[in-house]
Amino acid sequence: MFDFDEVIDRHGTSCAKWDDMGPGFGVSAEDGLAMWVADMDFRAPQVVNDALHRLADHGVHGYFGDEKPYKDAIIGWMERRHGWTVASEQIATVHGIVAGLAICLRAYLQPGDGVILFTPVYHAFAKILKANGMRIHESPLRLDADGRFQLDLEALAASLKGDEKMLVFCSPHNPGGRIWTPEELRAVAEFCAERDLLLVSDEIHHDIVMPGARHMPMPLAAPEHLGRLIMLTAATKVFNIAGGLTGNVIIPDKALRERFDVAHRATGTSVNRLGAVMVTAAYSGGDAWCDALCAYLAENARVFKQGVDAIPGVSMMPLEATYLAWVDFRGTGMEPPELTARIRKDARIAANDGPVFGTGGAGFMRFNLGTQRSRVEEAVGRLQAAFGDLQ
Ligand SMILES: Cc1ncc(COP(=O)(O)O)c(C=O)c1O
Repeated sequence: MFDFDEVIDRHGTSCAKWDDMGPGFGVSAEDGLAMWVADMDFRAPQVVNDALHRLADHGVHGYFGDEKPYKDAIIGWMERRHGWTVASEQIATVHGIVAGLAICLRAYLQPGDGVILFTPVYHAFAKILKANGMRIHESPLRLDADGRFQLDLEALAASLKGDEKMLVFCSPHNPGGRIWTPEELRAVAEFCAERDLLLVSDEIHHDIVMPGARHMPMPLAAPEHLGRLIMLTAATKVFNIAGGLTGNVIIPDKALRERFDVAHRATGTSVNRLGAVMVTAAYSGGDAWCDALCAYLAENARVFKQGVDAIPGVSMMPLEATYLAWVDFRGTGMEPPELTARIRKDARIAANDGPVFGTGGAGFMRFNLGTQRSRVEEAVGRLQAAFGDLQ
């Protein structure tokens, strides 16, 4: 029904993932494989492209207004797919989730305030926290016997400095694709409540969940803590419309919302028409595509895991959500520069170096599996060859 196998050439389309791979990683665009930044090599669902065609046919691209159909689509998706009831007035539209986080920092914090991150974690969090003058308080995730991330709230409690005002949580987790259990979610919310921390829950990956796994939105796991919760969500990851830079900050509490709105208004921005049209179409008619995508990605993850786990000293974290594989190379005994060299120069793959994601990332690499199966198979072959001397 949907052809995720069709190889689409993205070169020369002002595409960050493929066109910036040479300058960013030294991997040639000619025969390199782009497995870094988190977008996919698939066309967006037909419903999205049809909506854009209608827009182009109409041909007038003025300011966006009458947000009701757009908001209704978001509300419908959250209710239908996540069992989460959202009210229209709780939704603010921002130019991407990272921008939404930046507005939160300006709305609620002062430069110098401490913000907790569970690392390794999506690297733009630290970038935007630093750029806004915040102190980053890292709480390293532990790896359990199965190689899965575990929170260490006891160690975090013992390490606090006292200036922490906010915890930014990534759920499901990037990198590693860990889905947090309802008990873990509640523990995080309670941790915040006991220390009067704001809880920002970035759930941008919440639709990319492997068949059989289940993600729970933070407001459902911790309904008694809505007064400190800020939710970040978007259709951009799952429907591959990240270039539309349209995301939602959903704030259940009225007082928190009013503070956010003041900072949001100060940016002078409003809803992007192209982004809103894509989101409305995707959230209204993208269900079957989303399900098929998740099944396809699960098979990509199976193929990739089987292939890299066969290399001595290498193992991939079991993927429950996202299309971002977190691969542990520590067992090879190689230092990060050698790993990077083998992956970029020998395998000709542009993947993210683990240390970029903060403490705990050394010896790991993140590979984006949001691509055609043939490319995943090619990547496995290249990695096995690049580390062939370990066999
Ligand atoms: C956890 C997380 N949050 C936010 C983003 C980026 O969101 P946006 O493009 O809407 O700023 C990403 C992209 O990879 C991500 O993984």
